[in-house]
Amino acid sequence: METNDKKTFYITTPIYYPSDKLHIGHTYCTVATDTMARYKRLQGYDVLFLTGTDEHGQKIEDKAKEAGVTPKQFVDNIVEGERGVLDLWKLMNISNDRFIRTTDDYHEHSVQKIFKKLYEKGDIYKGKYVGKYCKPCESFWTETQLVDGKCPDCGRPVVDAEEEAYFFRLSKYADRIQDLLENTDFLEPRSRVNEMVNNFIKPGLEDLCVSRTSFSWGVPVDFDPGHVVYVWIDALSNYINALGYENDKYHDFEKYWPADVHFVGKEIVRFHSIIWPAILMALDLPLPKKVYGHGWLLLDGGKMSKSKGNVVDPYVLAERYGVDALRYFLLREFPFGSDGNFSNEALINRINIDLANDLGNLLSRSVSMVEKYFGGTLPEEREADPLDDELISMISSLREKYDAQMEKYAFQNGLAEVFKVISRTNKYIDETAPWALGKDETKKARLATVLYNLLESLRVSASLLSPFMPESAAKIAEQIGATAEDVSYENAAKFGVLPKNVTVHKGATLFPRIDMQKELEELAAAQAAAHPQLPKYEGVAELIDIEHFGKVDLRVAQIKECEPIKRAKKLLKLQLDDGFEGGRQVVSGIAPWYKPEDLIGKKVVVVANLKPAKLCGEESCGMILATDVDDKTVKVLFVDDSIPNGSKLR
Ligand code: ME8
Ligand code: MG
Repeated sequence: METNDKKTFYITTPIYYPSDKLHIGHTYCTVATDTMARYKRLQGYDVLFLTGTDEHGQKIEDKAKEAGVTPKQFVDNIVEGERGVLDLWKLMNISNDRFIRTTDDYHEHSVQKIFKKLYEKGDIYKGKYVGKYCKPCESFWTETQLVDGKCPDCGRPVVDAEEEAYFFRLSKYADRIQDLLENTDFLEPRSRVNEMVNNFIKPGLEDLCVSRTSFSWGVPVDFDPGHVVYVWIDALSNYINALGYENDKYHDFEKYWPADVHFVGKEIVRFHSIIWPAILMALDLPLPKKVYGHGWLLLDGGKMSKSKGNVVDPYVLAERYGVDALRYFLLREFPFGSDGNFSNEALINRINIDLANDLGNLLSRSVSMVEKYFGGTLPEEREADPLDDELISMISSLREKYDAQMEKYAFQNGLAEVFKVISRTNKYIDETAPWALGKDETKKARLATVLYNLLESLRVSASLLSPFMPESAAKIAEQIGATAEDVSYENAAKFGVLPKNVTVHKGATLFPRIDMQKELEELAAAQAAAHPQLPKYEGVAELIDIEHFGKVDLRVAQIKECEPIKRAKKLLKLQLDDGFEGGRQVVSGIAPWYKPEDLIGKKVVVVANLKPAKLCGEESCGMILATDVDDKTVKVLFVDDSIPNGSKLR
């Protein structure tokens, strides 16, 4: 029942830069956040789960210019376009309650208010900025922070920067921040605390430059036109603006703030554990209860990045293995607080061993046996055996062990606890040998007891797996005949919840086994096809296989006749000898560049299997190949006279 005094839980992901399509690394953090949000909902919390996009800054402005569109058009495409951010979260079954874009009016309004408030308070002042700037990271650095003269975050070169700018009095908050980091559990894992204190606080926290005049794609400082607010001040404030802080869009700041946890990648811990609390202190607002800095998914030992061309496309994986298998893998394979190496082999292994073998088999065997021996409905008679005790005690105490891990954001260990019980349950089948009991008419009560215990193990597992694999957990519940109530959080700590005469419903195999060798090859090809833009071939179209190319039937043909089409100034009508009886007619938009007499007798390449089309009432059967040599000139590709008409290109 909904009540107003339900405890709240506010959890966020970083808001993503829509500068490129998102990859599996971004998906990782959002899946983790989603799992935690679902877990808290399962526990009965009133959860607010926020994600969104961080759309301002020079990087986006530059990229938009390169693409020849406005910055807003550029980000709209990556956020809302096909296979964009919103599509990806939908695909991954992400249950965010809100989605904030930093280009939303209400957010921009709040950013201006916040900036002004800090200015009026004296925590923002006008000065001169001299220092270094890393464009890709949008980070300002002082000389002393550079590593070998390069950006300490990404190792790329930095540029000199000097201009009139606004500064935030970060130095004023240094002691309070150090105390917060060292003497509370604000920042986790604890290993990140030393890094922050030693690298950033001890060398001396300097005031932070928080406005720019060298580009315009940002929130304008309303009292000083020409200045835009530093993208990190803009971005960090999303966490309160999305609750209605200094705007009228939402009205639940009081209800949800302070956040229970911000999940962030390790490279942005600095912004979240130093700058963000200082801003909040300056605004006299409570601090978030926790910042959790998770590790990176690495590929071949390096951080995935689009510009390095080593990204893994979550669409490809989810389409091949299902969303739940991918979600499971991400949280089972890698400890959340540390880096982990992504590999296709590890993914397929997890699916085959944990999901297909351990969990999937347990489900299908259990349900099949209830059908086989009892027609789908268990009888009420029971016969216990000491053999059952260990399993029952493991099932009853599972939730407590799982909770202990989940409360520490140790997703990997939480899942490991569940799978310990699943393995133990499979072993229990071997120990109790239900197939032998099934042959003995006097053992019906014993058999029913064994099968019931299997279903109970699956029930508790389904409940605790539901934050990780919501769809699969629901399917398990359905197959074992459990109601929503049966798989509630409360019932996950109990044994004996399913009715004694429960009825099962056999369903499809949850996780089909994968042929590793075959799949590794196909997956590599699919990933390569999804990422055509090797840096060397910038602008080249999506990669295709040789089979795809083979589908295009290209032939040499000779132009026999050619005439203009009166109603269409750009079109010429060509009769071609393509080696086939009677030849073909093609209409081509080359009239501005060729006179009919220049073309007759020439040999060209025709796409022979293009679907016929009508252009200005004239049938066109195929098209001839041409190229734009500049934005005003088109040239037809002519081929050597010695090549016979009808020759096929390959
Ligand atoms: O940093 N493994 O946005 P972003 C794990 N806009 N996590 C990864 C990853 C990987 N390979 N690659 C990226 C920003 N991430 C800012 C945030 S918050 C107020 C502003 C994570 O799109 C990364 O660590 O570059 C970060 O937490 C998140 O994706 C967004 O990265
Ligand atoms: Mg980043």
